[in-house]
Parts: sequence; structure tokens; C-alpha cells
Amino acid sequence: MNLAQFLAELDALLAEARSAFAAATDAAALEGARIEFLGAAKGRLKTVQKWLGAVAREDKPAAGKRFNEVKTDVEAAFAAAQERVASQGATQKSGSQLDLTLPGTRLRLGRLHPLTQTIEELKDIMGRLGFSPADGPEVEDEWHNFEALNIPPEHPARDPLENFYLAVAQASGRHEPGGNPTRTQPLIDREAHASRSPLLLRSQTSTVQIRVMEHQQPPVRVISLGRVYRPDEADATHYPMFHQMEGLLIDRQVTMADLKSVLRMFATSYLGEDVHVRFRPSFFPFTEPSVEADMHWHDRWIEFGGAGMVDPNVLQAIGYDPEVYSGFAFGLGIERLCMRRHGITDIREFYRNDVRFLEQF
Ligand code: PHE
Repeated sequence: MNLAQFLAELDALLAEARSAFAAATDAAALEGARIEFLGAAKGRLKTVQKWLGAVAREDKPAAGKRFNEVKTDVEAAFAAAQERVASQGATQKSGSQLDLTLPGTRLRLGRLHPLTQTIEELKDIMGRLGFSPADGPEVEDEWHNFEALNIPPEHPARDPLENFYLAVAQASGRHEPGGNPTRTQPLIDREAHASRSPLLLRSQTSTVQIRVMEHQQPPVRVISLGRVYRPDEADATHYPMFHQMEGLLIDRQVTMADLKSVLRMFATSYLGEDVHVRFRPSFFPFTEPSVEADMHWHDRWIEFGGAGMVDPNVLQAIGYDPEVYSGFAFGLGIERLCMRRHGITDIREFYRNDVRFLEQF
């Protein structure tokens, strides 16, 4: 018998012994299994031990070692089964209250939060359009939240009252804002800038546009779904934290027609062919031209997000050549989409943690 055969026998024996002990439901069955595997005269462990003599001399140490391990394991499996059978016997003798005629206790199954379900579905739709997911940190520096997005210091969006600035992080100075695990060497070094900058909870997922472009050359085709924070009073349509889906596509010769097509395909994939999409001129510092996108579905309009062609200043700040590359970006409110689809009328329901609400999805 060679070593490989011997080890295979041992493995098979261990597996069979374990399942035999586990299957034994009473003392008699367990005793039968014990004799079969651990019996002193004809037990299978004994038989295998005899084969040890047939193993080549140089393989003996390895074979012997494995034999001892398996023996210990088989004995342990037997001891565990013995304990289990004994305790079962005890409850039965003490007159268990088990009444098999009573209806069982139904297990309450959990489910994914409606927003998580929406996020998964949006990723799926955008995945089919060729966009892969990217992530960025929720604690951001002003470079990624504002400056690189062409939002100058005097812009009202930077007002401390419109943002959640982190006073502590600001006072303690340097903090590594790039919690991005897939971070590679940036194309341009903004670390020095970031280290001086105060930190805030990101107010938009557009930050991820910058983070992706800093680490990647065109073409770029990503989405980023996550939380954003704004100090809004909570009411039926506002909450100080909500979710956005950001999209970014950069390549040669990208036009507004591509943006409109993608948003249209997205809207019809999410709500159905009976959605009508409309674009209104708008303004965002990081897109030019900019639009507001609305959807009409089942007799109502909703504004589902902002979008536009990426401003050449943004491309320049990142180190992309705006003469060669162009692209579009969009930012959609995820709660809004989910609310519209399911007829939810109060955004606060998402965060109340009321099972009666949550279990409907
Ligand atoms: N970041 C913008 C907002 O939160 C939305 C947006 C994203 C607009 C991308 C244009 C392009 O309002």
C-alpha cells in the first residue's frame, strides 16, 4: 500500500465515521456505529492501523501522524454524538412539553431595504449600458467636493450652513480623505492640497467623478451610488442624508445626444416604455451646458436629476485634454426614483425602520 492510498483510506474513514455518529439518534444506534469504527477487535480504525505495516518505511512517519490525527477526530466525533444522544434522552425522560400537533413557529424572513433593492436594480440597468460601479469616501475634502468641480470659494453651495463641515477633523489637521481601497498613483498630486483643506460630509456624489478621473485615463464609463449629506430640514421630500447615483462617461467625441439617450434608456428601463423624458436648461458649475432631467409617468412629472456635458475646466483640473476628450455626467436622486416607482409619499419612511413599511418591498 502506498502513502497516497493509505491517506485516502483514512480520509474516507473519517468522513464515514462522522456521518454515522451524526446520524445516530439513540444509544443503540450509536453503539453500533462505535463498534463499526472504534471496535477493539474488528473496528475499521483497527483494520487501517494494520495496513500501516504495509506502508513503505520512509512514509511511515507521515502515515503514522495522520493516523493518530484521524483517530483523535473519530473519537471526538463519537464523544460529541454520545453527549447529544444523552441530553436528548434526558429531555425525553423529564417529560418534554413538545406537542407535535401544535402549529409551528413561523420564521420571520428578513429582506433587503427598499433603497438597497433600488440600488441593486439601478446598478443592473447601468451595467447593461456599460457603466461599472465606483466608490468614494463620504468624508471629503473641499478639492473633491467643490474645487475640482469648478465650484469657486464664493459659490453659495460652499456656504458652511449648506454643508456638514467636520470641525474636529479640521482642527486636527491632516486626515487621509482617500478611503478608496483601489487607490493607485494619482495622475496629479492633490495630497498637499487635501491636507490643508477642511473636511465635510460630501454633499454630492460628483466627488467620485474626480476621484475616478484622478486614477484613470479615458475612456471612463462609471456610476457611483451612495449617500450624500445636506443640512436640510426633514420633511416629506427632504432628509439631511439621501442617496444619489452619479454617472460619468468620458471618451472622444461624446455629445449631448449620448447623454440624452443614456438617460432615456435608463428611465424606460426603470419605469417602463411609457415614460416620457424631458430636458430643461439648467446650471451646474461642473457641466456646460447643463440640464435638469424630468420624467413623466402615470400622469405626473418628477425631476429626477441634474446632468450635462463635463465642463472643460473640470477636465483640465484632472489633467485630461479637453481638446481631445469630452463627456457627460449626471446625478440622480435614488430615493426619488424609488418613491415614484412604488408610490411612496414620505421620504422619512425609508429611515423610520418600521417593519410594517419595510416588509412591503
Ligand atoms: N451633483 C449635482 C447635484 O447634486 C447633480 C449633477 C451631477 C449635475 C452631475 C450635473 C452633473 O445636484
